[in-house]
Amino acid sequence: MPHLTIQGETQLNGKVAISGAKNSALPLICAALLTDKVLSLHNFPMLTDTTKLLEILSELGAKATIIADKSGRTGSPQQLEIEFKDIISPLAVHEAVNQMRASILVLGPLLAREGQATITLPGGDAIGARPIDLHLKGLQQMGAQVEIIDGKVISTAPKGGLTGAHIKFPFISVGASEHLMLTAALAKGETILENVALEPEITDLAHLLQKMGVPIEGIGTSTLQIQGKNGVPLTSASHHIIADRIEAASFVIAAIATKGNVTLTHAHPDIIKGFLDILTKNGANIAIDGHQITVSGAPENFNPITIDTAPYPGFATDIQAQLMALLCLVDGKSQINELIFENRFMHATEYQKMGAKIDIQGAKATIHGGAKLHGTDIAASDIRACFGLVIAALAAQGETILRHIYHLDRGYENFEQKFKGLGAVMKRHT
Ligand code: EPZ
Repeated sequence: MPHLTIQGETQLNGKVAISGAKNSALPLICAALLTDKVLSLHNFPMLTDTTKLLEILSELGAKATIIADKSGRTGSPQQLEIEFKDIISPLAVHEAVNQMRASILVLGPLLAREGQATITLPGGDAIGARPIDLHLKGLQQMGAQVEIIDGKVISTAPKGGLTGAHIKFPFISVGASEHLMLTAALAKGETILENVALEPEITDLAHLLQKMGVPIEGIGTSTLQIQGKNGVPLTSASHHIIADRIEAASFVIAAIATKGNVTLTHAHPDIIKGFLDILTKNGANIAIDGHQITVSGAPENFNPITIDTAPYPGFATDIQAQLMALLCLVDGKSQINELIFENRFMHATEYQKMGAKIDIQGAKATIHGGAKLHGTDIAASDIRACFGLVIAALAAQGETILRHIYHLDRGYENFEQKFKGLGAVMKRHT
């Protein structure tokens, strides 16, 4: 199994370019199913998650081309051109579907375009049960028949296609919001989505759908009104994917944990303003200049804090593991309440192996910070935990062996190159 060795007591210094957002790129790729014209996505991050989704779509008939972008205007140095002239199969039963939660986003658009769609039940990270009931209920409200048989979701649209509906989500789901926005774009008539997630990736998707000719009102609010195109394929479009706010926030934390001074370029500071404010209030030095964020700090100058994870604009569950790494180093008692996913503290056990003092009680992690961490043999449980463990390893004494690094390749473009550019000493063993 490939693993990384990481040298500890390393300060990160220098500049790092933030890539296009993984969690925007995935739904944006699925928008290609709604048109027979070319869709161009600039600032496209090359990750195993994005390339796996392209593999799934290629099996359905998509032609995807990656083109180098040397303009320096994007954090991800390439763009994707994708075209779905003809869909050759309504069956997305590729093994990759099972490995990636976001592949559920293929179902509705495929159903809206082809009148039928079958997809393997999606898998994903081991962070909780992660049901898809909101996704399926929404499709049913648009008139679809949906059954789950032998690990597959089998769906059929009525004669005349899917019809717009008034869908009120009982709680906030990023994926279900995106899925039903994509599907509504090709349905007949108006869809109203209430209690939609407010994540910047939702706004990015709404902007792309608008460029593809879909009238949408309420962008940036929790109610969207979408005028569906009644099965008529959408137009071609060119779109710049927003910067990855989770990658940016992770590097900010890494800079403070290692007592470094790091400038992030190609970032969107406005979409992580709440996060940056919390860090500034608690001891980090942060300066913003356009798309650049410069951060310096040190654990000894940082306050212990209590944080609840919450939907945007609350504190993102996707930054919780990285923050925990920093809080292990900060003197005093901190607390993290994980209120989005029921099983997202698996990284705590690995920090404990490194010497951290953390008590877990259900959704509450109490971190008794200030202990010296030491390098050891640890393994990552998900994409974000993996970054958190790298932060802990860089701050720890001695060398760390980090396993399950496929999570890094899933979620962070040019991960080692970026860290080495900031002065980290790490080596991949294959
Ligand atoms: C998205 O997952 C992100 N993934 C996750 O990032 C992120 O942690 C999560 O949103 C929350 O911000 C992508 O964008 C690809 P949800 P998603 O539906 O859409 C429950 C990463 O590391 N739920 O908002 O799957 C669910 O179990 C990943 O990049 C239902 O019960 O998250 C969870 O408790 C990890 N029924 C809560 O809602 C449903 O039908 C929020 O999940 C759907 C969700």
